[in-house]
Amino acid sequence: MKGLEEKKPVKKVQSKYKPLFRLLIVSYFVLHAYFVTYPNYLNSKASIDYKEIFLNALDTNLAGNWSKTYTSVPHLAGTGKSLVNFTRDKFEEYGLKATVDDYEILVSYPKDHDLNLIDSTTGEILYKAPLKEDVLEDDPTTQGNDTIPTFLGYAANGNVTAEYVYANYGTKDDFETLKELGIDVTGKIAVVRYGGIFRGLKVKFAQDNGAIGVLIYSDPGDDGEITTKNGYEQYPKGPARQESSVQRGSVQFLGGVGAYPGDPTTPGYASKPGCERQDPHKAIGKIPVLPISYREVTPILKKLNGHGVKLSDKKWIGDLDGFDYYTGPNKKAELNLYNNQDFNISTLSNVYGEIEGEKADEVVIIGNHRDAWIKGGAGDPNSGSASMMEIARGLGELIKAGYKFKRTIILMSWDGEEYGLLGSTEFGEYASKILQKKVVAYLNLDVSVSGTNLNLEGCKSIYGLIKKVAATLPYPVEGVGSLLDHYLSVHGDKITALGSGSDYTVFLEHLGIPSIDMGFGGGKTAPIYHYHSNYDSYHWMEKYGDKGFVYHSLMAKFLGLIALELTDQEVIPFSIKDYVDELTRYFEIVKEKIPKDWESKAIENEATWNELLITPVEEMKYLDESTNGWYQEKYIPFPELVGKSDCMHHKNHLMFDIKKHKNLTLSDIVQITIDDLAQLGNSSAIFDGESASLQTQYDHRDSLFFWQKLKLHYKILKHNKLMQYFERNFIYEKGLYEREWFKHIIFASGRFTGYAGQVYPMLQEAIEDGDFDRLVKSLGIVSRTFRRVSDQLVI
Ligand SMILES: *[C@@H]1O[C@H](CO)[C@@H](O)[C@H](O)[C@H]1NC(C)=O
Ligand SMILES: *[C@@H]1O[C@H](CO)[C@@H](O)[C@H](O)[C@H]1NC(C)=O
Ligand SMILES: *[C@@H]1O[C@H](CO)[C@@H](O)[C@H](O)[C@H]1NC(C)=O
Ligand SMILES: *[C@@H]1O[C@H](CO)[C@@H](O)[C@H](O)[C@H]1NC(C)=O
Ligand SMILES: *[C@@H]1O[C@H](CO)[C@@H](O)[C@H](O)[C@H]1NC(C)=O
Ligand SMILES: *[C@@H]1O[C@H](CO)[C@@H](O)[C@H](O)[C@H]1NC(C)=O
Ligand SMILES: *[C@@H]1O[C@H](CO)[C@@H](O)[C@H](O)[C@H]1NC(C)=O
Repeated sequence: MKGLEEKKPVKKVQSKYKPLFRLLIVSYFVLHAYFVTYPNYLNSKASIDYKEIFLNALDTNLAGNWSKTYTSVPHLAGTGKSLVNFTRDKFEEYGLKATVDDYEILVSYPKDHDLNLIDSTTGEILYKAPLKEDVLEDDPTTQGNDTIPTFLGYAANGNVTAEYVYANYGTKDDFETLKELGIDVTGKIAVVRYGGIFRGLKVKFAQDNGAIGVLIYSDPGDDGEITTKNGYEQYPKGPARQESSVQRGSVQFLGGVGAYPGDPTTPGYASKPGCERQDPHKAIGKIPVLPISYREVTPILKKLNGHGVKLSDKKWIGDLDGFDYYTGPNKKAELNLYNNQDFNISTLSNVYGEIEGEKADEVVIIGNHRDAWIKGGAGDPNSGSASMMEIARGLGELIKAGYKFKRTIILMSWDGEEYGLLGSTEFGEYASKILQKKVVAYLNLDVSVSGTNLNLEGCKSIYGLIKKVAATLPYPVEGVGSLLDHYLSVHGDKITALGSGSDYTVFLEHLGIPSIDMGFGGGKTAPIYHYHSNYDSYHWMEKYGDKGFVYHSLMAKFLGLIALELTDQEVIPFSIKDYVDELTRYFEIVKEKIPKDWESKAIENEATWNELLITPVEEMKYLDESTNGWYQEKYIPFPELVGKSDCMHHKNHLMFDIKKHKNLTLSDIVQITIDDLAQLGNSSAIFDGESASLQTQYDHRDSLFFWQKLKLHYKILKHNKLMQYFERNFIYEKGLYEREWFKHIIFASGRFTGYAGQVYPMLQEAIEDGDFDRLVKSLGIVSRTFRRVSDQLVI
């Protein structure tokens, strides 16, 4: 990426030279404006129709070719280097400037494993699990000698023998329920099923509860309609789950309490050669874990029949035959679980492909990871890789046609997402300042196709643009209408908040860069997608997932056009009002959760509302500008020309009356936050009005005089900077409680779920923890952020 190395800061000029210096700067900008910027304002007619060229290029669909290539060799994190070169070479072939960016990261590779069910009275082995997925005649990917063994990334090495207990999904609550039932998991192996929460947190909770090993299996009870019980045949004959299929994956703790994504040995900083390494055990577990299939778990769970507590709650029962679900343990049955992996510091390679735009300081990134748990990975992630390569090809046609990109576009092919968002996180940590300064939006692809229903997650500011593009693309099924019609009929008019589980995490939650994630997923009646199994193969994709790779191509068109629209519009096409409306809706969710008896509770600890009393002026001083990319006047050469933002000249906000209040209660503080949010709502409406007006003026710039054009140029520059840095405002540098790496005060993954988003995490977690003082303090942090942003948006 160009300019990864930050320029040295310019030394402050002594005050007596200041007027002269200023004159020089002003002359420079006038000349610059005249010779560089102004010519762009001369041509009002876009000579090149980027949509037509891009869509025409993609009408030839090569997604299936890319899928074949990306699924042809194993490519666990740090391996499959031929695909690094392939990606780099293709980017170059299409006219993008390609770079390979390496990091040295701790990962684990499978070596050996064993799982035995033992009769503990005789020591006899009752069942030896094969720990292998079946080789299928119809599916070439399963046949080679280079398939990757079943294993879990970062699962600790060990050889343990113990009684075992069934712990349902292995959530925090599930382990608490077991305790209430009088079932002690200390010193035992926990058998848990996939679902509900991120698998690494299952291991964390098992370990926290004293378990010495974990087995994780896939229960057909979580497969919805498409099961053998409902009469469907298993893959490859039919759409149901293949009974030997195993979900591999990472058991890193990701967003759990005390944890962080990225290299477990380098929390918060980049894993470049020679960097300091730390004990990884805040981020990864200490007990051995193996993943198994439902065929393998059946004899194991059968042995618990009649032992411990019989489970009657539907939430605890899966759909396996031949036994009732019991907690165990069975004193006569033990498991011997052996896991052996190589823990290597391995070289991981990200590949970037850049097209420099005229506004080189405004960058749109499209990212997708390349590594997979299996040799195939046709869905995860290579449907995304195939879609991204199609986007690269389409952009290449635009370059050939001489289309001028206004903003810079960079395609990023990440390594090591699967183990814990490794490549993206380390890059985000390495280039944090430049990214905060330059990036307008991060657009993520991961599994771009595993079904036919469009799913969207992301920041509401981009949603209007997404809908606008979706309305222009036809959905591939007859009679459905546009992609937008399809989306609205499935999800209604809304976009889900981001949590974690893919490469947008560092961009949004660590750096405050607005992000979206999208993909076509399966509905209840779709063929079972064999996630992280050998059966996530080219053959499955071609036969069941996406015949003709139609949805791969549609995703390339959709995301490509979103990126192009983002780069082509003179005024960045975000809606700040939409974002703030969403903040208001999210705040209602939080308000509902506040215990009723807290509302009238007096705030006795004055220190807790100090956060609330920080004024925007004080805060501007307190914010270390070198660590924040958000909006500052210095980015605009002529602040006087376009009007100063008001954050240094704050309005008389309600908060200044606080000190007059006696006996302040929580309700009062909540009301202050609501008022601040309402004020922000008003400011954002004015701001969006200004966006529309500026774009209109730009579209009709032909009728303006030179100096009017110049003024318009600087107005738009300032407006775009405010827009670009809007999301950065929600970054709280000290981070969230007990997981400081996560810094966004609106978006984070749930501490106890890992994937799902939890909005206003500071507030919700304080409520969950019953911590009244922390809630008051956090409301202060949230409230003063609203005030600062509100002042900034309105001139
Ligand atoms: C793409 O794959 C198809 C079918 O395998 C093949 O006929 C075609 O030549 C390939 N095109 C390219 C550009 O590789
Ligand atoms: C990838 O390309 C580099 C440099 O061009 C070369 O040194 C390396 O051997 C290539 N690796 C593979 C696996 O082809
Ligand atoms: C794996 O299969 C390939 C091709 O069938 C063969 O050339 C190679 O020797 C095999 N490797 C091993 C370790 O069996
Ligand atoms: C693991 O432990 C079991 C039981 O103690 C033992 O029989 C087996 O040999 C061990 N496996 C390895 C690879 O050390
Ligand atoms: C990992 O480290 C082991 C032991 O040092 C080595 O034998 C193995 O080749 C390494 N694996 C990879 C993929 O680098
Ligand atoms: C504040 O509370 C104290 C005791 O809780 C009470 O005596 C006092 O009258 C209250 N003051 C006001 C202004 O409500
Ligand atoms: C927001 O605008 C509305 C309508 O213009 C006005 O009535 C209201 O007082 C404003 N609210 C705030 C908090 O400024």
